[in-house]
Amino acid sequence: MSGVVIKTRENGPLLVSGPFKLIDHLGNEYDLTGKENVALCRCGVSAKRPFCDGTHRTCGFQSGEVVPTPPIA
Ligand code: FES
Repeated sequence: MSGVVIKTRENGPLLVSGPFKLIDHLGNEYDLTGKENVALCRCGVSAKRPFCDGTHRTCGFQSGEVVPTPPIA
């Protein structure tokens, strides 16, 4: 499989892997040369947004969502 994969980390960033581009709100592309995996901040506290800088570990961010499973019949 060669598509983009976005994986949530419990109480942490979104890990993005695969062939992708990251574009800012002005249409400028981030230079991801040599990076096959990128961690995107979802706690909103990183000093390097949109990238994770590890601050989620100390800011109290909590997010442990999982894929909903169907109820057992
Ligand atoms: S998710 Fe890591 S700093 Fe925000």
